[in-house]
Amino acid sequence: MKYRCFGRQGFECSEVGFGGWAIGGGWGAQADADSMAALRRALELGCNFIDTAAGYGDGHSERLIARALRDRRATGARLPVYVATKIPPLPGEWPPSPYDLQEDRYPEDFIRRSLEARLANLETDRIDLLQLHTWTRAWNDDPAPLRVLRELQREGRIGLVGVSAPEHDQDSVVDLMRAGWVDAVQVIYNLFEQEPTAQLLKEARRTGVAVIVRVVFDEGALTGRFSADTHFAQEDFRARYFAGDRLARVVARVAEIRKDLALPQFAAECGQAYTMAQAALKWVLAHPAVSTVIPGIRTAAQAEANCAVSELPDMSAALVERLRRHNWRRGIWYGGK
Ligand SMILES: NC(=O)c1ccc[n+]([C@@H]2O[C@H](COP(=O)([O-])OP(=O)(O)OC[C@H]3O[C@@H](n4cnc5c(N)ncnc54)[C@H](OP(=O)(O)O)[C@@H]3O)[C@@H](O)[C@H]2O)c1
Repeated sequence: MKYRCFGRQGFECSEVGFGGWAIGGGWGAQADADSMAALRRALELGCNFIDTAAGYGDGHSERLIARALRDRRATGARLPVYVATKIPPLPGEWPPSPYDLQEDRYPEDFIRRSLEARLANLETDRIDLLQLHTWTRAWNDDPAPLRVLRELQREGRIGLVGVSAPEHDQDSVVDLMRAGWVDAVQVIYNLFEQEPTAQLLKEARRTGVAVIVRVVFDEGALTGRFSADTHFAQEDFRARYFAGDRLARVVARVAEIRKDLALPQFAAECGQAYTMAQAALKWVLAHPAVSTVIPGIRTAAQAEANCAVSELPDMSAALVERLRRHNWRRGIWYGGK
């Protein structure tokens, strides 16, 4: 496992971290034994950064992570493992509507109560990185919830302050980075979603804000495992995410990426051609602003496959550039579907 500086924060984080959503629930059947094995294997392989949230199974993901870290300490392991968790806003639109008031969605007493619950679930007296789970640009001029998080930092209850960028307007966090409100941001950045390269990643380098990359596989699609006939269980959120013709469209685009990976000039990038999952991770890691990429991991086998990617040779500049053409502006109607 290779390590990178976590922004200007002066600690080294594994470049492949652990995404802890699916182990909490919402992704179809998931046995705790598999989740625990996944966490254990990732930690054994040098992963030292875990992302979770209050909302992942109503704290279930946090509690499993606490258990895995307790088990690890019992083995005598001493190297630090950093855990980032998130506080959701009070119930309402997600992402927040432009009309929402911060005092309604993230009031101070609610933030403080939620922090206590995070501390209890994670069995700790200090959260390494506390993130607001979503945001709206409407709050940028006077970001009161972040003032509360900075106060909690001064009180020693949290190490670092972060925001998870809202999917419809990720660049809304750029002003927060420039104004020094956040130590870390969490963003969707992958072979389909390349917009962060326009500004956000450049600002991260300039300001020293750490970047945590989420959804590197576009919720699994960029591992190349899906076909147009893939069926998601009703309780797997992907039954909605890939509803209608979305799955067929995404599968067709993945096939185009595969063609690029098989081109003669790229077919020996790592001794052989990268698999889709390897290429998805390596392409993201090729950007120097990225501190860690946190693929969702559900099994020990996925922990092994994803952690091993760190050791593969870096992606060539030529392939990085070639894959830029798969940028996909899904929300824009002018070009048709
Ligand atoms: N708003 C937010 O702040 C937010 C939103 C989303 C995610 N996140 C964070 O980011 C993390 C990553 O995103 P994500 O989990 O949503 O999606 P993702 O990383 O794009 O996809 C994860 C899924 O891909 C499959 N997978 C993982 N490794 C694989 C491998 N080597 N080969 C084949 N399949 C593999 C697994 O599902 P299957 O085995 O079922 O296919 C896994 O659950 C989350 O876990 C969470 O910590 C944050």
